[in-house]
Amino acid sequence: SGKAGNLGKITGTMVESSNLITFNGLTNSSGYDTFLLDEERGRLLVGAEDHVFSFDLVNLSREHKQIAWPATPSKRDECKWAGKDLGKECSNFIRVLQPYNSTHLYICGTGAFHPICAYLEMGKRAEDNIFRLESSHFENGRGKSPYDPKMLSASIMLDGELYSGTSADFMGRDFAIFRTLGEHHPIRTEQHDSRWLNDPRFVGVNLIPESDNPEDDKIFLFFKENAMDGEHTGKATIARIGQLCKNDLGGHRSLVNKWTTFLKARLTCSVPGLNGIDTHFDELRKELCDVFLMSSKDPKNPVIYAVFTTSSNIFKGSAVCMYNMADIRRVFLGPYAHRDGPTYQWVPFQGRVPYPRPGTCPSKTFGGFDSTKDLPDDVITFARGHPAMFNPVHPIGGRPIVVRTDVDYQFSQLVVDKVEAEDGQYDVMFIGTDLGTVLKVVTIPRESWHDLEEVVLEEMTVFREPTPITAMELSTKQQQLYLGSALGVSQMPLHRCEVYGKACAECCLARDPYCAWDGTECSRYFPTVDGLGRVEDRSVYGVENSSMFLECSPKSQRALIYWQLQRPNEDRKHEVSEDRVIHTEQGLLIRTLTQADSGVYTCHAVEHGFIQPLLRLSLQVIPTQRLGELLPGGPQGGPGGSGGAGSGSGGAGGPAGAGHSTKHKLWYRDFLSLL
Ligand SMILES: *[C@@H]1O[C@H](CO)[C@@H](O)[C@H](O)[C@H]1NC(C)=O
Ligand SMILES: *[C@@H]1O[C@H](CO)[C@@H](O)[C@H](O)[C@H]1NC(C)=O
Ligand SMILES: *[C@@H]1O[C@H](CO)[C@@H](O)[C@H](O)[C@H]1NC(C)=O
Ligand SMILES: *[C@@H]1O[C@H](CO)[C@@H](O)[C@H](O)[C@H]1NC(C)=O
Repeated sequence: SGKAGNLGKITGTMVESSNLITFNGLTNSSGYDTFLLDEERGRLLVGAEDHVFSFDLVNLSREHKQIAWPATPSKRDECKWAGKDLGKECSNFIRVLQPYNSTHLYICGTGAFHPICAYLEMGKRAEDNIFRLESSHFENGRGKSPYDPKMLSASIMLDGELYSGTSADFMGRDFAIFRTLGEHHPIRTEQHDSRWLNDPRFVGVNLIPESDNPEDDKIFLFFKENAMDGEHTGKATIARIGQLCKNDLGGHRSLVNKWTTFLKARLTCSVPGLNGIDTHFDELRKELCDVFLMSSKDPKNPVIYAVFTTSSNIFKGSAVCMYNMADIRRVFLGPYAHRDGPTYQWVPFQGRVPYPRPGTCPSKTFGGFDSTKDLPDDVITFARGHPAMFNPVHPIGGRPIVVRTDVDYQFSQLVVDKVEAEDGQYDVMFIGTDLGTVLKVVTIPRESWHDLEEVVLEEMTVFREPTPITAMELSTKQQQLYLGSALGVSQMPLHRCEVYGKACAECCLARDPYCAWDGTECSRYFPTVDGLGRVEDRSVYGVENSSMFLECSPKSQRALIYWQLQRPNEDRKHEVSEDRVIHTEQGLLIRTLTQADSGVYTCHAVEHGFIQPLLRLSLQVIPTQRLGELLPGGPQGGPGGSGGAGSGSGGAGGPAGAGHSTKHKLWYRDFLSLL
């Protein structure tokens, strides 16, 4: 280990310890923080100082490839003459690494304060085994990569066009969101207008569809910037979400080659103070440092996780807040921030908003116009003067889901994995810190989203020396996490169930949703295979207002029975509430069925502190009105006051429900065939 391996100068050093594989970097490179996960070819591409690397996703230390791409000696000299630090700033720090077409990536670096881009050939498939920089063709990197390696920037390639939030001059004064490449003329945000962007530092950029029509597709940018003049007391840094239409072509007479659909809103993430004063934390200098989009079944509605840190002489803290798209869209459809002059306050705009509403994409969905070039002058004028929304976007639940204070580290990066566990779905957060450690955290609702319990499952040291984690990617396919820092690149598995010991108690108490006790050891839980034996799945039907008996009796006399209910459209299971039901040794009696009782009931046996699912009953409650429609003679022809189906793990088809007769069974069969 260490940096003095005999191949160290050229290939870096690989270190493996307790499931952690680390590439300790090259002696003459640093800043391993531009990652591109290429699941198709099974590679992790990493942009660093003067180098680009290609690693095997399965095992970083299996024959990695690297290309040296330093700045030319003349550019380094110019950089030095301009007063920059030759050793720290006058290298080519790779800042853009994006898929371009089926065979090439697009790659840009700071080029010793002279941004430069190139195409990187990868081949179509992994077997092609190509990794080559097209050194015959370089492109100007202005508006794509920053000049200064210290500047934060973010970019995304979509349909051969590159969207970048970056600084675009040597002095670091001209900041903008650009779209370059592709067939259109480059387009950017209004220049030198602090209402649009005020010394922004970009953290992330993503495409999020607004409807099923691609014409409505929007680009969302996450950044921090100085407050607009008069927006905030003091010199506060504000976290922002900005939006743009993908099909924005700029204005015709004014805002030519400038975005006409740019809007921004503030993201808040406040912690209620100890004595209930919410504003306390908010007043401190707060920094947005990372954003992660957790995709959901509906691509229009990912959940957005954002990491904030704050520090002052007396207080150092980090928080994670979660936002949903409905709240974000509501803010962008709400009042614009307006002020009548430099000495006035910002107020919600009350006047008439021109049509089409600024921020709306040209599309058939909302009708009216084909291109932003057709926008009426009053829309353009309004858009230019009102880039900010008045209302902020508040996090889900009104507060952070994770807060850390009084520790010697701060959060720096975040990725989230959706995990199917035995008792439902969990979002597991992997949080990188500025001391080179990773926290694996899961939040569990105690009663509701307003009352979350935060459980730190693991805390791992990734880099040998304390160094901020500056890049993170998660591969669901590989079940691995990849981390970057100034020192190198590391890889670790998402779960290490075996560390929870060789006993059921530790495994079950660990509350790690990746792991389950399978009868002999603590191992990765797979939703399709159910540990000990098969869990029986049944469908049962009940009639509204009647009673229902769900039978489930454990094989062992000493086991307790524990019931969980997962309602349709709910992510998680929860314990069946006591007031609605009667627990008996043979099962569960629901006194008066309502629609809210529908769902999947799981019966678990609890013994010696471990829980084993025995039976899953999917209960559907049939409304009485439907009965009336379906059966001649109306609801009274039904099963009367008591009905029920379901039977236990012990005796399929045995005498199960209270007041359950053969007649009723026949009736149910007829009824089901009617349905
Ligand atoms: C990773 O690859 C290296 C080099 O081929 C090998 O020595 C090591 O055992 C591998 N590690 C794992 C965890 O597979
Ligand atoms: C830097 O790395 C390159 C290979 O990437 C190597 O050729 C060169 O000798 C290294 N320079 C020093 C000073 O180690
Ligand atoms: C991808 O782009 C590169 C660079 O422009 C070009 O040379 C290459 O032919 C393209 N590949 C395909 C499959 O279009
Ligand atoms: C079901 O019970 C509720 C509450 O007791 C009652 O309001 C409703 O009329 C009942 N429905 C039928 C069809 O009996």
